[in-house]
Amino acid sequence: VFYRQSDSDPAALAGSEIAVLGYGNLGRSVALNLRDSGLPVRVGNIDDAYRQRATDDGFAVLDLADAVDGADVVYLLLPDEVLPAVFGEQLAPRFGVGTAVCFASGYVLAYELVKPAADLDVLLLAPRMLGEEVRRAYVDGSGFLSYVSVEQDSTGRGRERMLGLASAIGSLQRGAIGLSAEQEATLDLFIEQSVGPYLGVAFQTAFRLGVEAGLPPEALVCELYMSGEMSRTISTMATAGFFESVRWHGLVAMYGGFLGTMGMDGEAMERHFREVLEQIRSGGFARKLQEEEAQGYPVLELIDAVTATDNPLTAAEQRVRAALGDPDGGP
Ligand code: NAI
Repeated sequence: VFYRQSDSDPAALAGSEIAVLGYGNLGRSVALNLRDSGLPVRVGNIDDAYRQRATDDGFAVLDLADAVDGADVVYLLLPDEVLPAVFGEQLAPRFGVGTAVCFASGYVLAYELVKPAADLDVLLLAPRMLGEEVRRAYVDGSGFLSYVSVEQDSTGRGRERMLGLASAIGSLQRGAIGLSAEQEATLDLFIEQSVGPYLGVAFQTAFRLGVEAGLPPEALVCELYMSGEMSRTISTMATAGFFESVRWHGLVAMYGGFLGTMGMDGEAMERHFREVLEQIRSGGFARKLQEEEAQGYPVLELIDAVTATDNPLTAAEQRVRAALGDPDGGP
């Protein structure tokens, strides 16, 4: 199901008090967009630097649970891993009957890490866009794709409230796709755990072998991602089409790429992707993540070690930046 701007009723949220809980990457953009759409927004945040930022941006900022009192719509923009405890202990007792509780990711719903009461509307509005871009795309009017669903409709107004919110954050200028929380969580985890690692390993392996073959590391990181050519190729898939984009690369690239694709043994990859999907759907991945959390995320140390700045890939990037500046003006 697709939703466009014309599907939303401009009056759907008239008179509604909106609480945005969390003022991080996505929370800030969402709060600013909702306010600029003319809705009364209060922010809920713990006492940290994000809270100060919300205050500096002119919002009334309350503690998380206090922000929920009297709110008609509560948009949860806290990290997925902190939501279960905060939801059950602090927020659940404060929701009024018929409050619309909106999630920005299906994860905690899909794995039943939060269990909203039956007298709430439960909505999903998950932007498919980086947090800061959600603000930029609102300001320039281009909009951004979101996945949306009504997971529970206790008031009979769930759909109109969900679309009202999607419109007010600026998403419907581009459009939204209906997807249940369970599907959204599966899709998100599946692509980031299948295609993501393959790309990561492919880039690192090509870099290592290229260096071994005597190619300059600086040119390798440019070829792989710093020149922007690779990102443009992906953009072209979106605009021209996945297969059509192949034709834009010239005969040599097309010939080599086609032969390479046809000659590749995809079975090992497919087996691996199936295992990944099975782990996600059976809840095995979510259980592993919870064990990890219970132990204080020991994996973070490993990630820090692997991504330490003294690896040859990062060193090559730094030399390119030092010599030629940042490819796109920096982060
Ligand atoms: P973030 O990491 O930027 O969130 C920071 C916010 O969480 C701050 O307001 C901070 O005060 C609060 N916070 C951190 N630890 C806390 C704790 N222990 N207790 C209470 N509050 C705490 O999060 P982000 O990236 O904005 O994500 C929020 C939600 O949006 C998540 O559900 C995420 O999956 C979803 N999402 C994020 C996107 C993004 O581009 N960042 C895109 C689409 C969805």
